Amino acid sequence: MSDHDALIAAARKARENAHAPFSNFKVGAGLRASSGKIYGGCNVENATYGLTICAERVAIFTAISEGERGFDAIAVVTDTDSLTPPCGACRQLIWEFCGDVPVVLANLQGKSEMICMRDLFPKPFDSSNL
Ligand code: THU
Repeated sequence: MSDHDALIAAARKARENAHAPFSNFKVGAGLRASSGKIYGGCNVENATYGLTICAERVAIFTAISEGERGFDAIAVVTDTDSLTPPCGACRQLIWEFCGDVPVVLANLQGKSEMICMRDLFPKPFDSSNL
């Protein structure tokens, strides 16, 4: 199994736990830490809508809360023909916590593509601007 296959598999598995009764749009993320461990995340919605948290941020916060610092790659899986890129808020946090990592976008049919954060999130605001 390639590095990216393992990440995609973790994202698919995490997606099964998505709580998306309002959008019915289930998302899974897989995040590889520098330790080698892979963390999953799914989107979790709520009745106010606005307090919803995306799969990518759940994966990042889970890993951070487990003591991880430094990440190598992240995958995002949805059940769509057109692959799903991270939303703007998630791009900010992926950039701040992971830097210029590869972002693997995949669907349940086995389609995938890879894009680097520097291309997905050009001209970021981060601690270097403070
Ligand atoms: N969502 C994610 O989990 N990640 C993304 O990158 C895009 C959007 C979720 C949030 C919400 O639960 C649903 O997808 C529809 O926006």
